Amino acid sequence: MRQLMIKPTLYRYDTAAAFAEAFGLGPGDLVITNEYIYKPYFGALDLKCDVLFQEKYGQGEPSDDMAEAMYRDIKDHHRRIIAVGGGTVIDISKLFALKDPSPILELYDGVRPAVKEKELVLVPTTCGTGSEVTNIAILALNSRGTKKGLAADAMYADSAVLVPELLSGLPFRFFATSSIDALIHAVESSLSPNGNETTRLFGYRAAEMILRGYQKIAANGPNARIPLLGDFLLASTYAGIAFGNAGCAAVHALSYPLGAKYHVAHGESNYALFDGVMRSYLELDRGGEMAALSAHLAGPLECSPEPEAVFAALDSLLSTLMQKKALREYGVTEEDLTEFTDSVLLNQSRLMANNFAPLDRDRIYRIYQALF
Ligand SMILES: NC(=O)c1ccc[n+]([C@@H]2O[C@H](COP(=O)([O-])OP(=O)(O)OC[C@H]3O[C@@H](n4cnc5c(N)ncnc54)[C@H](O)[C@@H]3O)[C@@H](O)[C@H]2O)c1
Ligand SMILES: [Fe+2]
Repeated sequence: MRQLMIKPTLYRYDTAAAFAEAFGLGPGDLVITNEYIYKPYFGALDLKCDVLFQEKYGQGEPSDDMAEAMYRDIKDHHRRIIAVGGGTVIDISKLFALKDPSPILELYDGVRPAVKEKELVLVPTTCGTGSEVTNIAILALNSRGTKKGLAADAMYADSAVLVPELLSGLPFRFFATSSIDALIHAVESSLSPNGNETTRLFGYRAAEMILRGYQKIAANGPNARIPLLGDFLLASTYAGIAFGNAGCAAVHALSYPLGAKYHVAHGESNYALFDGVMRSYLELDRGGEMAALSAHLAGPLECSPEPEAVFAALDSLLSTLMQKKALREYGVTEEDLTEFTDSVLLNQSRLMANNFAPLDRDRIYRIYQALF
């Protein structure tokens, strides 16, 4: 049985300039990024590559419509696609490394296979998705009213490049939402029945690095994150390696309808669901990987290894970063709870197959209801 796959070669540079030089960015390259990231870090280098700014095609998280509009504007043939950005930029760019990515919906519906065409270089500027090491691209499918992940080996990057300098301008809110996402990747993959000793090595280490960083931020305030950005970036890549192999599960599955309908940032919508899903698991099973993970997290959380105590301590630590909201505060209605439940059952079987304990229709509904 396959234990671990890390396809991209992993690189680390202290500065964007060092990365640009080492990779010889120039003609034949298409850099997909945001202007507010490109200008300060690459602008003075006067690179001869083509550049496409994602924010010109809409705010918020990526959708199939946004990706189609960007694709229409890519004129020349490029040898390399170089994504420098958060999960939004990276996930869209993965599609552009494919042969004939449009119509994108056909790829997501499995009507056409994903076939790799171009070299792909991924440079994350948030510390959350781990997308630089996974073969997954997640889009809101506007016509379907939900988010969906496409997983295909053709979308693995050739190179994943960590440049901590690029995170220095990341606003605290996005630092918080993205690193919570990474923490949830680490937790869900560690609990996944498809996990193993090797994936948990990465998942546990990622969780530990993130929690120790959070303790410092809770004690000393948001600026305490600055010297730790390299650690958070690496932790997010480790969590990506873990979930890219072992899978994410119900937290992500249940958060997708919320994120898609009410445009809640990915990490934030996961955060809204996280504690509810964990509590539901604990009602079903407190042993196995749940007990093992809890014992591991109790160290950095400085609490008892009882799973209830661990998740209570975790909830309280996370609340120092960001206030958790009830679903109704995002505009969710009681009717949505049934709609969301149906949407999870219909669209998220890929993720729900990785649940720590089976969650049936009634349980999914009750998780939403308890968080409402
Ligand atoms: N493919 C995967 O494996 C995977 C895994 C998890 C999440 N995702 C997807 O990733 C997306 C979320 O990605 P994200 O959390 O990285 O957020 P994001 O890419 O949406 O970025 C959040 C905001 O921060 C800005 N930003 C990013 N980096 C910045 C920087 N260094 N300085 C200043 N501003 C910066 C962005 O422009 C954006 O406005 C979601 O669509 C989610 O579904 C994908
Ligand atoms: Fe995620």
